[in-house]
Amino acid sequence: MDVQSAIENRGTTYHFSDKEVSEEIVVNLIEAAVKAPAAGGIREYEFIIVTDKSEKEQLSKICLTPNIDSSPFMIVVVCDISKLNSIFEEEDSQVFCVENASLAIENLLLVATSYGLGSAWIATLQQEPIRKLLNIPENYIVRGIIPVGYPREGENSKKINPITNINKIVHLEKFNNNEY
Ligand SMILES: Cc1cc2nc3c(=O)[nH]c(=O)nc-3n(C[C@H](O)[C@H](O)[C@H](O)COP(=O)(O)O)c2cc1C
Repeated sequence: MDVQSAIENRGTTYHFSDKEVSEEIVVNLIEAAVKAPAAGGIREYEFIIVTDKSEKEQLSKICLTPNIDSSPFMIVVVCDISKLNSIFEEEDSQVFCVENASLAIENLLLVATSYGLGSAWIATLQQEPIRKLLNIPENYIVRGIIPVGYPREGENSKKINPITNINKIVHLEKFNNNEY
């Protein structure tokens, strides 16, 4: 699937089938994530692959997002901001830490789509319970939990994007000139 098709077809999925996802695909998802651009070329994120049923159930509860534990695995994205602090001011590091992880996650979601996989980006997180559950050190921030798997039969993850007319949000030369 080309990039354009992956963008068109990606949609948040909450219900997954039991079908296994090959290890090769899991590796490819992570490899796609780390190829995203990163501020200063510093990739301060790491990934925890969670397959354990009980851990997935607990993560689903902590995130207040039912059903995502039906996924064969979840990818928990964690960031060590101190790696950015080594070359950037604290304020910039805070922003770049969000931006770097966001780009990595979007790459991952799009490549997952290209394999016919469903996914979701869960970012309503309670740091402490997740840290405790997964033994994540204090200096890491949890950026996102991404359940991944083949969508449950009949699950149509494709949503209608509310922006149907880009004329309203694209300006030509100057703001408020919607001639585009
Ligand atoms: C930064 C970010 C945080 C999100 N956090 C959550 C979340 O905590 N729980 C959830 O169910 N979905 C979450 N989502 C998924 C959005 O709700 C979803 O992308 C949105 O409804 C648009 O649907 P689509 O992905 O199918 O286009 C998040 C998405 C993004 C980009």
